[in-house]
Amino acid sequence: MRDELPTLDPPERLLCGPGPSNVEPSVLEAMRKPMLGHLDPDLSDILLEVVDMLRRTWRMPDGLVLPLHCTGTAGMEAGLAHLLEPGDTAIVARSGYFGRRIAEIAHRCGAEVIAVTADWGEAVPNERILQELDRHPRARLVAVVHAETSTGVEHPLAELAAELRRRDALLMADCVTSLGGVEVDARAWGIDYGYSCTQKCLAAPPGMSPVAVSDAALERIRARQTPVPFSFDLLLLERYWIERPPAYHHTAPILAVYALHEALRLLLEEGLEARWARHAEAGAHLQRGLTARGLELLADPEYQLAPLTAVRVPDGVDGKQIQGRLLREHGIEVGGGLGPAAPAMWRIGLMGHNATIETADRVLEAFDAVLAEDPAPATASG
Ligand SMILES: Cc1ncc(COP(=O)(O)O)c(C=O)c1O
Repeated sequence: MRDELPTLDPPERLLCGPGPSNVEPSVLEAMRKPMLGHLDPDLSDILLEVVDMLRRTWRMPDGLVLPLHCTGTAGMEAGLAHLLEPGDTAIVARSGYFGRRIAEIAHRCGAEVIAVTADWGEAVPNERILQELDRHPRARLVAVVHAETSTGVEHPLAELAAELRRRDALLMADCVTSLGGVEVDARAWGIDYGYSCTQKCLAAPPGMSPVAVSDAALERIRARQTPVPFSFDLLLLERYWIERPPAYHHTAPILAVYALHEALRLLLEEGLEARWARHAEAGAHLQRGLTARGLELLADPEYQLAPLTAVRVPDGVDGKQIQGRLLREHGIEVGGGLGPAAPAMWRIGLMGHNATIETADRVLEAFDAVLAEDPAPATASG
């Protein structure tokens, strides 16, 4: 007799954690469209359409824009591997989990890493980053997380980029939680290497990392003395994604490309400004609702990010237990603190499709229900 094999039957969830977010039905539908081969001329046209829509999303009319076939972390790693060579100096703003990860990977690339740190919930002041650059004028790279998902802080990136335009160092920006949800203007601001993911504000499934690379960064990459990893060699990838006829580099994740195509089409149809405004309204509504309930937000209010809100777990409340009940009893996923150093928190994401007042209210109501039944006081302290 044959074994009874399990059929795939995941439950419905409202994904309001730090990502992934839910995707529109039409994005899932896109993945059911006919498969093409990775060198099919019709797929080549689709790849160019994706690149064109990504250029508009990044607001990057020149340089190189394409989605890497990988996670956000690998997009980060690809950038560092291209922009740093052993012995280079990199200045990294580090005020949360992902800034720490940039510093770690830069170190693995053989760079001397100058970390400029701030506490959880704070943005690293741009003046301190610039002071370090004055101290290390030969630094090749300044790297910051635009939207720090581990704390809910938005770094004042446009202001930093404006200062860096007068200097030699290139600017790398982690836009994993900002692209498509918060203003990002890669060309006008002067981002040299921006990377993102598909699974948050772009509202596609995880699996790709859209990147935007400036002409200045490309010049630096072409002048490298040491090679970059083959799998993420941006110049080879350009020959597949953009040059025609395409040169084989790898077998593209074709269905993920379809999903991204549809997600970008929806985003641009809505309009970038409208999309940012929707995220801002939903985030502000959620944040007002949380503070009205006596809960304390982690981020400095001046730098509070819209798509991600970090909430301190009140004293005496078991944050993990509440998180578990939200999932089991309400079908709502929220995140907890990321990494051993993180203070106790819940991280609530309203991203992409989920960035609405209605979703914010659903989350608030679910918190009301589970906290009302919690024996501990539901008032935040410290
Ligand atoms: C700010 C930030 N950077 C990088 C990453 C890494 O992305 P991935 O999990 O796709 O590797 C994340 C993931 O949540 C993130 O929030």
